Amino acid sequence: LHIAVLMGGWSSEREVSLMSGEGIAEALESRGHKVTRIDMDRNIASVMEGVRPDVVFNALHGTPGEDGRVQGMLDLMQIPYTHSGMAASVIAIDKQLTKNELVPHGIPMPDGEIIQSESLYSADPMPRPYVLKPVNEGSSVGVAIVKEDGNYGSPIARDSEGPWQEFDELLAEPFIRGRELTTAVIGDKPLTVTELRAKSGFYDYDAKYTEGLTEHICPADIPQDIHDLCLKYALEAHRLLGCKGVSRSDYRWDDSKGADGLFLLEVNTQPGMTPYSLVPEQAAHIGMDYPTLVEAIVEAAL
Ligand code: DAL
Ligand code: MG
Repeated sequence: LHIAVLMGGWSSEREVSLMSGEGIAEALESRGHKVTRIDMDRNIASVMEGVRPDVVFNALHGTPGEDGRVQGMLDLMQIPYTHSGMAASVIAIDKQLTKNELVPHGIPMPDGEIIQSESLYSADPMPRPYVLKPVNEGSSVGVAIVKEDGNYGSPIARDSEGPWQEFDELLAEPFIRGRELTTAVIGDKPLTVTELRAKSGFYDYDAKYTEGLTEHICPADIPQDIHDLCLKYALEAHRLLGCKGVSRSDYRWDDSKGADGLFLLEVNTQPGMTPYSLVPEQAAHIGMDYPTLVEAIVEAAL
């Protein structure tokens, strides 16, 4: 096949996407496919028209490759592509829209609210500790945990470092103490549960992409009921949002509360495929090596 690997772009996760894309391109070449690497810029439609691949491997993260825009363009051009389609992408990139869709179906998610960042300078939006995050970023870009002991002062100081300086609107959610879990779904199969233990205690951008800063425990050492719920919710979320190919659902679990302490945070339709990433690790756990995983994602697109 002639496969265009679409990567890079201009989101805050550009570097992550380049790492995902290069790994994918090499894997596809190792399996004998013809690969064109495309670093996306604003001329993407004409570039894509010139290349006219059999299929696009979408290795973009963030906007506009994960939020439905690139998917819509490829739909119009009638070029098949990997991962979710436009509608699922539009919803899944937005953590609040995702809640609106999944919570009525019984999937537990933290009760958040959208706030104007300006409002943080006069009052906390909810009792501390809480988490602030942009609704549509990935890799924990722009995420801050506001703790009781006030690393920001109360109300948050205007000149303190945090996402309130960069984003007009933020999602505020109660901070869930405990553990960080994740489950990938490939095709129609949830794989397993990985626990992430960041040395710093916060699985942020650096912890995600710097070797040695986070321990991945795959499969996670958790009770069977929590394991089963992670798989169940990940599959339900994948289906309810209409995801295709692969998705990854991220959780926080307050282990002092048993099953009532498990909350889905979000569904990633373009999960990372770097050497540090979780989907390749879970695939390996079920005996699927990286090139086989990459080819399976392509096959699901055809
Ligand atoms: N947003 C990153 C790439 C992930 O979900 O893995
Ligand atoms: Mg994400």
